[in-house]
Amino acid sequence: MDVWFCSNGRGFPNLFLLLTLMIFCFCNFVANASFNVSTIRFDEGYSPLFGDGNLVRSPDGKSVRLLLDRFTGSGFISSKMYNHGFFSARIKLPSDYTAGIVVAFYTSNGDVFEKNHDELDFEFLGNIEGKPWRFQTNLYGNGSTNRGREERYRLWFDPTKEFHRYSILWTANNIIFYIDEVPIREVVRNEAMGGDYPSKPMSLYATIWDASNWATSGGKYKVNYKYAPFVSEFKDLVLEGCPSDPIQEVLEPSDCSDTIARLNAQDFATITPERRAAMRNFRQHYMYYSYCYDTLRYSVPPPECVIIPTEQRRFKDSGRLKFGGSHRRRSRRRNRNPSVSLNNQSSM
Ligand SMILES: *[C@@H]1O[C@H](CO)[C@@H](O)[C@H](O)[C@H]1NC(C)=O
Ligand SMILES: *[C@@H]1O[C@H](CO)[C@@H](O)[C@H](O)[C@H]1NC(C)=O
Repeated sequence: MDVWFCSNGRGFPNLFLLLTLMIFCFCNFVANASFNVSTIRFDEGYSPLFGDGNLVRSPDGKSVRLLLDRFTGSGFISSKMYNHGFFSARIKLPSDYTAGIVVAFYTSNGDVFEKNHDELDFEFLGNIEGKPWRFQTNLYGNGSTNRGREERYRLWFDPTKEFHRYSILWTANNIIFYIDEVPIREVVRNEAMGGDYPSKPMSLYATIWDASNWATSGGKYKVNYKYAPFVSEFKDLVLEGCPSDPIQEVLEPSDCSDTIARLNAQDFATITPERRAAMRNFRQHYMYYSYCYDTLRYSVPPPECVIIPTEQRRFKDSGRLKFGGSHRRRSRRRNRNPSVSLNNQSSM
């Protein structure tokens, strides 16, 4: 935790406040019971996407490893597309030197709607040895790729040491990104967002790939294959939602009403005051870039932004922290599920 943040405004740290905050943060992060979700085996809901040889299932079929080596990354995709849902997995990220590596856990329909796709992202960005993983969340709707909505964060634990649950909830009214039971970002649907709010059925994707050209310090540090293979592991997989045919574009067919009602009744669908406090805490201490505070990029913040003045004070016009954060914006133009040959190119 950054001491400067807890200073009392006269330039020296208020230790009592600091301690109180630390205890408060700690309690908020651990005090919640885990979600009541049913997990499925890999074969029950997912298929390999690319780099088949680097996708390794456990003998019981309940967990899967995605490897990146100098020949290819790998990935899987949900066998169905879902119109609204809860997409979740417990994930352990590769350890040691992971510069240039991206592990992505996201929903998209880019394969079906090339020009006007929807997408919700967790993207974990590897780092040089001794420096922790960072990650970002993002969303696109109806092909809004020129309006990135990135937020970047640090984590409050080492994601390479044990499994943590990462979840994306997508309903007709809101989107919530969770880590374990802590909501870290909520986007509430708003008329002014129009098509930018994801609205068409999406698949769940998980991938590991070589993003040497941008992932770590804006591409300064490349993947070092001396440390390969890089292994990320996924287990306790959850897919809850309404399977839908994206071409028919029947939004919420009637036989889905039960599924959707069940989804909306789950404890993760509403943010309790306790969880909201945990979210605020997380964002105050671990978020180091927000597009909502990046006035150089968006002179008028996009309509879903909730500007919190005490939070805004900590960010520069560039949306970066005034102290202690770094963020390089990057181009969105890239291929995230590279074919083997593309991947070969980028790893050279
Ligand atoms: C989505 O984009 C298409 C064309 O790209 C447009 O015709 C359509 O009206 C958009 N939908 C919404 C909800 O904005
Ligand atoms: C990828 O690169 C490796 C070694 O550089 C090579 O052996 C392999 O044939 C390449 N594969 C493709 C599909 O280009």
